[in-house]
Amino acid sequence: MPVSDDMIAALIELKRTGEEGLVAQLASQLRELIGSGRIGRGRALPSSRRLASELGVSRNTVTYAFEQLAAEGYLAASHGRRPVVTVDGDERIEAAGVATPHVRSGTPRLSPWASRLKQADWPMSYQAPMKPLRPGHGDAREFPNEIWARCLRRSAVRAAKRELGPVNRPRLREALAQYLAASRGVRATADQILILPSAQAALTLIAAVLITPGEEVWVEDPGYPGAAAAFRASGARVGGIRLDEEGMQRMPGVAAPKLIFMTPSHQHPTGRLMSLTRRIEFLRLGKPGKTWIVEDDYDGEFHYDSRPVPALQGLDAHGRVFYVGTFAKAMTSDIRLGYLVVPPALVGALEIAQRHIGLIAAAHIQEALAEFIADGHFLAHLRRMRRLYHARRDHLVEGLERHLGEVLAVEVPSGGIQLVARLKRGRADQAAVKRLGEAGVVTRALSGLALERPRDHGLLLGFAAWRENEISAALRTMASCF
Ligand SMILES: Cc1ncc(COP(=O)(O)O)c(C=O)c1O
Repeated sequence: MPVSDDMIAALIELKRTGEEGLVAQLASQLRELIGSGRIGRGRALPSSRRLASELGVSRNTVTYAFEQLAAEGYLAASHGRRPVVTVDGDERIEAAGVATPHVRSGTPRLSPWASRLKQADWPMSYQAPMKPLRPGHGDAREFPNEIWARCLRRSAVRAAKRELGPVNRPRLREALAQYLAASRGVRATADQILILPSAQAALTLIAAVLITPGEEVWVEDPGYPGAAAAFRASGARVGGIRLDEEGMQRMPGVAAPKLIFMTPSHQHPTGRLMSLTRRIEFLRLGKPGKTWIVEDDYDGEFHYDSRPVPALQGLDAHGRVFYVGTFAKAMTSDIRLGYLVVPPALVGALEIAQRHIGLIAAAHIQEALAEFIADGHFLAHLRRMRRLYHARRDHLVEGLERHLGEVLAVEVPSGGIQLVARLKRGRADQAAVKRLGEAGVVTRALSGLALERPRDHGLLLGFAAWRENEISAALRTMASCF
């Protein structure tokens, strides 16, 4: 309903104590009246003198508000004349500086990819506070921030002299190729390595480049939900493969899928190591160029009981294994860096996709990391963390066996940052996680990591991120809860 000149001031309500100034409030309310059609195109607004006196504000306030709306195109103002509205109500242009909130109209139609992401409900389904014994993390408090800060500083200072351009910085690629060869037995030239913001980025890229909707992907069950989510989002049919003592089981008689995702060094979440026989069987599955393997070595830097088993990628004679790593566990999760070693035949395709999706890590951080590795700080940090996490693993295992041995059966992992303790009786791991959470101990239910019908019931407990006294306190709480 159009409003008369007399009514305009009555419809405006200015707050003198609010954070927003009077000019902004007046402009915003006049914009609303014009936008809703109540002051239509061609109407002259009251003069600044009249409106100022009716609103009890200075004339300048009104003049400035008119000027603002004239600049946005709502009014035509000329000196000595009342300003005239120049837009229709339904022409509610989202002019620059419009302060009214956007209205939510209807349900947006998402792409098939985004709809599948929504269904996957990852990572939204797991939002736990960063408290003992939350799994999945190393101890950020132990990270040598001063040394890292020096590397960052030097990298920033050198920025002007650096070659602009390469998305994957050659120094970091070289440093990683050497480190991965020496410590994980990965066989790759520097130009097979993409530097990415996370391991998850690597999975999304692989899916984008290889998966045609409807193709089959196998993942471990229970397994890492981020992987299943990335492959499902690409339209793959994701099948969960059960585990046995040797790791992911073989599926005799079943046609090989397009892609197999696995964590052979420390299966996520159980921490099991895939046997050599099983590794070789998987490497022989399907045809090279048709079936690909994604090896996620998310925490392969940490091994405690024996020399680490080299990466599956190093056994691959046909160039069919992608090797994924992250610095989220070995350094800190905030560092937001991961990498992908790409089979030679796919390097070009992956690099183009990386550029298009824009999964690029900041050059100055890549350069800083190259220096951190080349100067030996990365290996020194890993050596120190290996000792620390080893002691923490043993502390947690001993405590669980001593205080909770009746209810939980611990699977002692040979490495990694977390362990599984299975419920000896019943299947109520979700209820146990809830109860422990209320008492202040963060854990994760094993059944929640099942892809299909959960068969394993237990708790996933982190040890790497927590000091021994924190672990002891959490164990006391757990013992009183069970
Ligand atoms: C098995 C596994 N892979 C990958 C990641 C993710 O690493 P990023 O944070 O670099 O994506 C995690 C994180 O918890 C993980 O558990």
